[in-house]
Amino acid sequence: MPLDFPSLPFRLALNPGATPRAAYGKRQAAVLDGAGLAEARRCISAWPGYAPTPLIDLPGLAAELGIGVLHYKQEAERFGLRSFKPLGGAYAVQRCLMREVALRTGRDDIAPREILNGAHAGIVSGVTVTAATDGNHGRSVAWGARMFGCRCVIYINEAVSRAREQAIAAYGAEVRRHAGSFDDAVRQAFETARREGWHVIPDTTDGEVIEAPRDVTQGYAVMAAETIEQLPGAARPTHVFLQAGVGGMAAAVCAEFWRAFGADRPMTILVEPEQAACWFASLANRRPTPVTGEVDSFMGGLACGEISRLAWEILEPGAHAAMTLADAAAEAAMRLLAEGRGDDPPLVAGESGIAGLAGLITAASDGEARHCLDLDSSARVLVIGSEGATDEAMYRRVVGRPWQEVAA
Ligand SMILES: Cc1ncc(COP(=O)(O)O)c(C=O)c1O
Repeated sequence: MPLDFPSLPFRLALNPGATPRAAYGKRQAAVLDGAGLAEARRCISAWPGYAPTPLIDLPGLAAELGIGVLHYKQEAERFGLRSFKPLGGAYAVQRCLMREVALRTGRDDIAPREILNGAHAGIVSGVTVTAATDGNHGRSVAWGARMFGCRCVIYINEAVSRAREQAIAAYGAEVRRHAGSFDDAVRQAFETARREGWHVIPDTTDGEVIEAPRDVTQGYAVMAAETIEQLPGAARPTHVFLQAGVGGMAAAVCAEFWRAFGADRPMTILVEPEQAACWFASLANRRPTPVTGEVDSFMGGLACGEISRLAWEILEPGAHAAMTLADAAAEAAMRLLAEGRGDDPPLVAGESGIAGLAGLITAASDGEARHCLDLDSSARVLVIGSEGATDEAMYRRVVGRPWQEVAA
């Protein structure tokens, strides 16, 4: 069956600041090191329902793309939240509560399980955490707040769908909707928290507040560590296509592969919506460069105009290339994944979760891009399916069937 994928405009550029042969350095270790990952794994693996998500081989699609191997890390079932995000936001809530309890009790040895089992409910119930979100991060923070027993207020902007708003509220969080962009919602969360004495759990930073975004990144790295352990015969991938919003997820995956494989790490290619290509612009300019104008995208989780400075420490030297996509490429890739090529299982992926795969298909279908990225029959490619049907109505509209039918 010929690959039915539309030919859509995209941009691809190698990162002029990339240092492919460099060792994992101090700058990077300050964001993620072995101790940070070990602590994240200890905490997260103790949460009810923890299990590594599957790494699925897609030989049918790999053959059609003319590459050797395609691994798909499927995050559609993570903790029942349908995305990888609880690894970050909820973990950062737990760490924040550990710090707060330490402060209030004068103890510096608060164990993660003391937060999980409600040993300090009196303190924790008086804490409010807050975050800005395009959907998944807020759901994760709200879920964590409910699991640990603190109050939660989540800021969303006008583009966030009702379904996503309801999914956050379902975890008991108060949701506040405001006009403006995701970046405006981030500013609102910070301003209110400062006024009210709340704790902000951002997944991004302009360099000022870094504790929570670092916890978020270290939590995401658990997904990368699982993936490395699941690789058949521990064979290293040659390429990883990673969707980027503020860059936290891509930084965590890039860093963990860098730590594990050193100079033999896979080529890291960042994938963004064309209208929210802040990583593409920042890498090209060799400095953080915001994207102005309308950044809204079908790939809502990636509709960010400003990169995270913490992710910059990893990706400025660590990313090999960046590419931009039209929204329609993500839609087409969702349908293609839901079909299952050859004997591949049909898989469910949401709008932002599909972007890495959409980037791979786009690049592999273009002669020049294939050449530029060395995508050939020896390529062993990893993509992260970072979300399932987080917006069920949207999924059905795009794929033409409910996600349950595809998953079955
Ligand atoms: C499903 C999904 N994948 C990827 C990302 C990108 O993560 P980051 O903003 O850390 O780059 C997001 C962000 O919300 C997301 O929701």
